[in-house]
Parts: sequence; structure tokens; C-alpha cells
Amino acid sequence: MIRSVVCGFGAALPKRVVTNEELRQLVDTSDSWIQQRTGIRQRYIAGPDETTASLGEQAARRALDNAGLTPDDIDLIVVATSTPDNTFPATAVNIQSRLGMQHGFAFDMQAVCSGFVYALTTADNYIRAGRARRVLVIGAETFSRLLDWTDRTTCVLFGDGAGAVILEAQEDSAAGERGIIAASLRSDGAHCKKLYVDGGVSTTGDIGHLRMEGREVFKHAVGMITDVIEAAFAEAKIDIDQLDWLVPHQANRRIIEGSAKKLGIPMDKVVVTVDQHANTSAASIPLALATAAGDGRIQRGDMVMLEAMGGGFTWGAVLLRW
Ligand code: ACO
Repeated sequence: MIRSVVCGFGAALPKRVVTNEELRQLVDTSDSWIQQRTGIRQRYIAGPDETTASLGEQAARRALDNAGLTPDDIDLIVVATSTPDNTFPATAVNIQSRLGMQHGFAFDMQAVCSGFVYALTTADNYIRAGRARRVLVIGAETFSRLLDWTDRTTCVLFGDGAGAVILEAQEDSAAGERGIIAASLRSDGAHCKKLYVDGGVSTTGDIGHLRMEGREVFKHAVGMITDVIEAAFAEAKIDIDQLDWLVPHQANRRIIEGSAKKLGIPMDKVVVTVDQHANTSAASIPLALATAAGDGRIQRGDMVMLEAMGGGFTWGAVLLRW
């Protein structure tokens, strides 16, 4: 049997850091309000020369270096983003061109904050179907460009960035226990007005701004996240005690702690980067993975659960052995 094994990871952040204190110059807020409600201390905001594709390209190059591979070794690029450089073509083909790749294929996936778990699951399916051998899976966003910077209830929550992993097809015998083990994806469009962008090509003709009923999102988040995590464990027939790391989507420290508590996962097994990066939507999980694998917390062979929930609503979880 073929398995999809992570063989490289990388991340990229914009040059500019914006602290909570700096946001006080824009809106009526405070460092203590933001930290208490969300755990966020700072975020990275893209400058004029930085875009979703440029950040995604940087993360991809770092993942290739980490894996000891070149673009020639990749046959599919999947980019999870809700903030593409252009309406079309896909940011994935933009990155393909930036990497100098003239072979293979590339496409974007749009599942907002759940984009990376959707993209990883899709890439795993291509690999297990024998249609790709190595897939570059990127989560890249410039949410700062969608924010209403006069709305204190949303603008303090988000940041920009990108992260990438490379999945490689390996025979069971070579992979050992490593690779993607199980996944559970969900969506329910009945919630679409709770977190959405009030513009688009086919409606207003402009980009629009992010709008959110924060309390409503919060109310649903923990239940949805824990449901898909339990579904992934059940599919894998693996007990939650065997988990080494939970790497959640980084939206809000209270949602992360609430989910971990409900599942009985101690916080020292949870990777938290929301304090540094804020909510970077589809980029948040690969950024957190690159942080924890980069500093040696996540080790080869560790059992890792990824989870996310976001606009749509969409939500999902992926269980893998690193
Ligand atoms: N600074 C200061 N005060 C603020 C700010 C701010 N940035 N934003 C809102 N407030 C005020 C409100 O106006 C309100 O004031 P009022 O009582 O005078 O009307 C008060 O703070 C409380 O507002 P609530 O919205 O009730 O605050 P809450 O405790 O729900 O926290 C928050 C808001 C942080 C958005 C919370 O609801 C939340 O975390 N929701 C989840 C949303 C989320 O994480 N979304 C990310 C995308 S989805 C995802 O990725 C999972």
C-alpha cells in the first residue's frame, strides 16, 4: 500500500511585525483586551512587495531545501488560500512559475481556515490513487488585505504568512508507521453569514471585507473541532492517549484550550503560535508545524493531529505520523 509521508516543511512571514499596542493607533482597543480574549500579542502584516504567492513561494523553497529536493521532484502543487494574488489564474500556478516548474499541475483550494486540512487530504488522495508522487501543499494568506481596519472586532484577530509541507508517496515497507493515517472533513453552508467576505467577483465586483459574528463562531468552534478529531481517531482505531502533538488552527487561544480540555489533551502536547502569528487562516497550521518541527518539539515518528474550523463553516482534522 502507498502512504503519503511528510518529507519536508517550511514557512515564511512578512517582514513587518505589528504589535497590539500599534493597533491602538487605528482602533479603540488595548493590548490587554486582545490578549485576554484571544491570546494574540502580535501579527505579521505583508508590505506592498509581499503577496500570497511571494510568501507561498518562500515557504515552498524552504520546504524543498528541508526535504533536500528541487522543483523538478514535485509533480503537484496544491495551495490553500482565500486571498489569491489574482481572481485567476490560481496562486498555485503562479507559485509553479516562480519555482521554474514547467511540468506537473497546480491548483488552489478554498476552504478558508480549514484550507490546509482540505488541501492535505486532497493531496493524500492524489498520492494514494497513484496520480502524484510528490505534492507541495502550501497554506498561504494575506488576510490583512481583506480586513476592515476601522472594525476593531475583526482587524485585531488576523495576520499574514505562509507554510508548506511536501508529501511523498512511499510504500508501506519504506514508510514504516509514518504518513497520513486518517482524515475527517465537514462543511455546513447554513452558517455562511456568520463569517464571510461581503464582496466578490459575481456580487459586488469588488474584494469586500471580512465580516464576522465572533460569538456565534466561538459558540460552534469547540464542538465542531472535537467532533472531527474524534472521527479521525475512530477511523484510525487509535486511542487519543497515543497522540504526541495536537497542532490546531491558530484562531484563538480560548478555542484551542477549550478543544484540548474537552478531549483530555494536556496543553503541553498542544502547539500554540497564535500569540506570535495571530490567525493566518489556511497558513496557520503549516506555520505552527514548521515552528514546532523546526525547534525540535515534533520528532520523526510522532503522532500528530491537525485540526481547523473556519468560514463556511468548514472544519476538519488530519491524523498523521510525522
Ligand atoms: N478591543 C476592545 N474591545 C472590543 C474589541 C477590541 N478589539 N472588539 C470588540 N470589543 C468589545 C465589543 O464591542 C463589546 O463591547 P460592548 O460590550 O460594549 O458591546 C465587548 O468587547 C465584548 O464583545 P464580544 O464580541 O462579546 O467579545 P467576545 O468575548 O465574544 O470576544 C472574540 C470577541 C475574540 C472575537 C470572540 O468572540 C472569539 O474569539 N470568537 C471566535 C472568532 C474567531 O476566532 N474567528 C476567527 C476566524 S474563525 C476561525 O478561524 C475558527
